[in-house]
Amino acid sequence: SIPVLTIDGPSGSGKGTISRLVAQRLGWHYLDSGALYRAVGVAAGWADLDLADPAALVRCAFDTHIGFRDDERGELRVLVNEVDATDELRTETAGAAASAIAAIPEVRAALKDRQRAFRQAPGLVADGRDMGTVIFPDAPFKVFLTASADERAERRYKQLKDKGVSVTLDGLLREILARDARDAQRSVAPLRPAEDAVRIDTTGLGIDTVVEQVLALLPA
Ligand code: C5P
Repeated sequence: SIPVLTIDGPSGSGKGTISRLVAQRLGWHYLDSGALYRAVGVAAGWADLDLADPAALVRCAFDTHIGFRDDERGELRVLVNEVDATDELRTETAGAAASAIAAIPEVRAALKDRQRAFRQAPGLVADGRDMGTVIFPDAPFKVFLTASADERAERRYKQLKDKGVSVTLDGLLREILARDARDAQRSVAPLRPAEDAVRIDTTGLGIDTVVEQVLALLPA
């Protein structure tokens, strides 16, 4: 079957950056599952849906068109209902909306097939929270990335500042800790490493080092 490398972990663990680079190096497809949850969260906001109305959110999860494409600089752009929402999706507001709707089991179920459809030859790097535990439990290669909370907040801070988003490090640290706590404590697909995942603590490690450590798990 088509090989999958799952890369799970909390926000700021380096998942996104590492997954994209590893996918490039392997020439494999890339699934940013967090972007799907963010897209549904943002679309729900656009439609003024009630976050306490699961049925409406499930409909939204099924009905929202989510498209990915690389721009001329090789950056991944995300289209939500045909609108380029890449910048809005990166905000911590979108992250919080994603985390809220992601706690609803029926919303997760609604996105399952869409995620599995990314498994295409020659292979897939799948980035998220439950890639190795729920979506691709049979994946032959699984990684779980962690990093200290301070370092994760700092990385997100740098990312957002580079994009011109104004945030404070302190506020971001608090928001990230709150989101991680919700993701870890929810009853459906709580954030945890798959039993057969290789854990890598990326605190203090450079991107290239982590990319090499991940690539070393695959046969040459
Ligand atoms: O990875 P990212 O920060 O973009 O994910 C945003 C939110 O979407 C997470 O905080 C989490 O609640 C949710 N999510 C999830 N399962 C995934 C990916 C993301 O529940 N596979």
